[in-house]
Amino acid sequence: MSSPAQSISPLAPLGVTAALEAAKDPNFKPKPKIFDEFALSNRVGIVSGGNRGLGLEMALALCEAGARAVYCFDLPASPSDEWMKTRDYVQNLGNGSKLEYVSIDVRDQKAVWDKGKEIGDKEQRMDFCIAAAGILKSHTDCLTYPSEQFKEVLDVNTNGVLYTAQAAGQQMRRFGDGGSIILIASMSGSITNKDHAWVSYNTSKSAVLQLARSMACELGKENIRVNSLSPGHIYTSMTAAYLDTQPHLLDKWSSLNPMGRIGRPDEMRGVVVWLASDASSFCTGSE
Ligand SMILES: NC(=O)c1ccc[n+]([C@@H]2O[C@H](COP(=O)([O-])OP(=O)(O)OC[C@H]3O[C@@H](n4cnc5c(N)ncnc54)[C@H](O)[C@@H]3O)[C@@H](O)[C@H]2O)c1
Repeated sequence: MSSPAQSISPLAPLGVTAALEAAKDPNFKPKPKIFDEFALSNRVGIVSGGNRGLGLEMALALCEAGARAVYCFDLPASPSDEWMKTRDYVQNLGNGSKLEYVSIDVRDQKAVWDKGKEIGDKEQRMDFCIAAAGILKSHTDCLTYPSEQFKEVLDVNTNGVLYTAQAAGQQMRRFGDGGSIILIASMSGSITNKDHAWVSYNTSKSAVLQLARSMACELGKENIRVNSLSPGHIYTSMTAAYLDTQPHLLDKWSSLNPMGRIGRPDEMRGVVVWLASDASSFCTGSE
């Protein structure tokens, strides 16, 4: 059977095709390639919200997978102690990877686009983007939710995600090599967290799901993939604001999860490397 070869992996021959070639050619040496598909060697990208929490955890995973440079976008003028120690750790990995810090507000569309271009000019490529910057406000009654606060949450969680994806996507289009954009939504975009009055957060995250599908359909022909990722409860500064002040929530949130526990930030590592890499090359518009 001959296959309609609409696309060829840069690592071809791969999988069963490789096995069949090996059967024909005694000089063909079988070699495991599955982890090569996850490798990010020489790739460059942006992670917003990368100063701490899930953003920083994911940025480190991308460096471990071999990315040449990962640019962490976040608000503070200078990076956190945690970020600096992680940068040093990356330097010592010995794989040539580096973590860079950029102080920026993702709500400023022009600044974010300009920074994307500056990175493109310097690195001459753009391969992946994780838009993870986000905020969660304290409980606020939906019937009297103040308009300014509602706008503020949507401005960071939805608009800021769009601007970050645009900044990376513009450079992906410029270099013509495709790329992978991962928008961090939340389970709160699909479900409502029981007993939590978080209407702005939930709404902002629902919008991110449709943003990903919509961008994926527009950009697929350019091989720019866009997927969304929706974590469940994970202990970070964002959730610590609740868990540290209301310890009973740990049992409650754990009991709402099929595995009976909340997640660890490092449990995001595998999925982001998969999504950023060629291992997910036929995955776009997915949640
Ligand atoms: N922790 C969880 O349980 C959980 C669950 C689902 C989704 N998420 C999402 O994951 C992402 C990361 O969350 P986290 O838990 O690591 O929280 P976090 O508060 O530790 O990290 C969020 C980061 O975003 C940055 N940020 C906020 N506003 C910004 C702005 N205007 N410009 C640039 N950076 C800005 C913050 O400074 C912070 O470093 C968020 O989008 C969050 O909604 C988290």
